Amino acid sequence: MPRKRRITDPGALLPRLPASGSVDPGRMRHHGRTGGVVMAEEAKAKVGLGGVPETLLVTLYHRAAEARRPDALLHDPKAVELVDGIDYPFERHFGTPGLGRGQGQALRVRCFDQAVERFLATHPGGTVVALGEGLETQFWRVDNGQVRWLTVDLPETLEVRRRLPPAEPRVRTLACSALDERWMDEVDTSRGVLLTAQGLLMYLQPAEVHRLVAACAQQFPGGALLFDGVPRWLSTRTMRGMEMSEHYQVPPMPWALDAAEQRRLRSHSNIVELRELRPPRGRGVFNGTLMPLVTRLPLVGGRIPPLLLWRIMLARFGTSTTKPG
Ligand SMILES: C[S@@+](CC[C@H](N)C(=O)[O-])C[C@H]1O[C@@H](n2cnc3c(N)ncnc32)[C@H](O)[C@@H]1O
Repeated sequence: MPRKRRITDPGALLPRLPASGSVDPGRMRHHGRTGGVVMAEEAKAKVGLGGVPETLLVTLYHRAAEARRPDALLHDPKAVELVDGIDYPFERHFGTPGLGRGQGQALRVRCFDQAVERFLATHPGGTVVALGEGLETQFWRVDNGQVRWLTVDLPETLEVRRRLPPAEPRVRTLACSALDERWMDEVDTSRGVLLTAQGLLMYLQPAEVHRLVAACAQQFPGGALLFDGVPRWLSTRTMRGMEMSEHYQVPPMPWALDAAEQRRLRSHSNIVELRELRPPRGRGVFNGTLMPLVTRLPLVGGRIPPLLLWRIMLARFGTSTTKPG
């Protein structure tokens, strides 16, 4: 059952409303190849996000681009439906979905999905807490009919999420920063907990990441945190200003996952295991041959090979509830 401490500001808890701003079937046309829909421009939802919240559109766009392919590595019709229903200059800001970007995103997401599916295989009615979930559609990809889902994201992001994907009875949303530990009181821990932070930690300050991970390890004994991180060179480039296109600058990513950070995470008294997860094999020479080899190499001198944009880790928590010293 949820713990006792509760978020007292009623406005901080956004219930999943019926999809009031959602799609009117009369305004949609079927999209032959994807089985999705093409919406009339005027029926599309305006999304006025900026800064880090806007980055959820990058990952959504590339997921959908991959899912549209006949040889897609990711089955994600909800992502396609969302992109088709949003009024946003995706291509102008994030470029054409070529150059393996969609595939890279799909492999990253499949790696997260597989870890969630492994958790659900042993905890069918467990709770998945998706921190910084944005417009991820993972619930629909991994739903086993029993999982309980808690989305934690910033109010401006959840205002968008609340309008778009359909409401689901087993999905709750909490409009609150992941750094505001009050969300922890809302988690039903009775059937096991898996926390995910996909595409979130890199946007936080290192001290914030350390505090958040320590608090999770402390508050969810026996649970685990699934997260990704970017290499130091990418973090440094974004801090100096990195353009994805003429029209879109990537927000700074202050936190990098290097060997020192991994040592730091491992040193937490209630983190009993920190393991890197390998993405599945992709298509072509790069993602089908080269990347599987690179991801099997031990970190040379603690450096993530420059070909990799992210690494995915699973931190398992021990059963201790004593405060770390
Ligand atoms: C790159 S997007 C990732 C979205 C999604 N997880 C995915 O992989 O597609 C970053 C997300 O983190 C959210 N975010 C940023 N700062 C946050 C915070 N302090 N607490 C919770 N969510 C946050 C943003 O609103 C956005 O949804």
